[in-house]
Amino acid sequence: MTTIPRYAVFGNPIHHSKSPVLHQAFAKQTGESIAYTAELVDINEFSSAADQFFNQGGLGLNITVPFKIDALHYADTLTDRAKKAGAVNTLIKKNNGIEGDNTDGAGFIYDVTQNLQWTLTNKRILVLGAGGAVRGILDPLLQTKPQKIVIANRTVAKAQRLIEDINTTPETILSACHYSDINDTFDMIINGTSASLHGDLPALPNTTISNNSSCYDMMYGEKPTVFMQWAVQCGAEKVADGLGMLVCQGAESFYQWRGIKPKTQSVIDQLRLTL
Ligand code: ATR
Repeated sequence: MTTIPRYAVFGNPIHHSKSPVLHQAFAKQTGESIAYTAELVDINEFSSAADQFFNQGGLGLNITVPFKIDALHYADTLTDRAKKAGAVNTLIKKNNGIEGDNTDGAGFIYDVTQNLQWTLTNKRILVLGAGGAVRGILDPLLQTKPQKIVIANRTVAKAQRLIEDINTTPETILSACHYSDINDTFDMIINGTSASLHGDLPALPNTTISNNSSCYDMMYGEKPTVFMQWAVQCGAEKVADGLGMLVCQGAESFYQWRGIKPKTQSVIDQLRLTL
């Protein structure tokens, strides 16, 4: 008797997770047969729930809020990108234990450069926010060789800490400021704050955006986010939400587990219909 390879996503809350739909779509597309469930894990029970899952034959987990740091500590080994992101969104059962990986940054870069076909190299990039979401994309973003990245945050010290942690990049490329200090126009603006979730928007001058700017919100929803609406009003050339990033980080996790990289655009389109 063959057993179906078992995967799951751990989070709290978890009922809104799109991951089961996403991974079943990848499995169908690639001809793989997998079981994938969404598991509500008690806030204090992450490591015992993960132990139980792997001891019972589970092969891999996606990790979402609030367990990405717990997963970082849980893993026996870490990939470079998980170390740099300071968080783990993917656990992989290997012969020598459980490996912790982070596919968020790779998912973001793939969506922007491959699906959307936006160029990052030599561009002037403004990143809004300095939380976990931004930490996860910063190193992959730097690797695309932009002209400069400015990280703006309500709490500037937090943005400065992110930069100190990167610590090898010259100040001319990477700098931190408050929203009110922005006095430049940018080629690309990335919203990595959670403000969108509450319908809020950091107060930015309209001159931040030109009619050549591309604006990406790492959040997504049924309708364009307030950040996207503001970007359109300011005349941005291109606007996108983070649904593509969600699908692409999932595709990268699937690749780490199964060794096959699913195509993402059709799954983004499929998922969009369910929002
Ligand atoms: P995540 O892991 O999702 O990035 P986080 O670590 O709590 O979540 O970070 C949330 C980010 O959104 C932070 O940059 C936060 O700004 P502060 O560091 O100043 O707290 C930002 N943020 C949340 N609500 C905001 C709002 N209403 N206006 C501006 N920034 C906001």
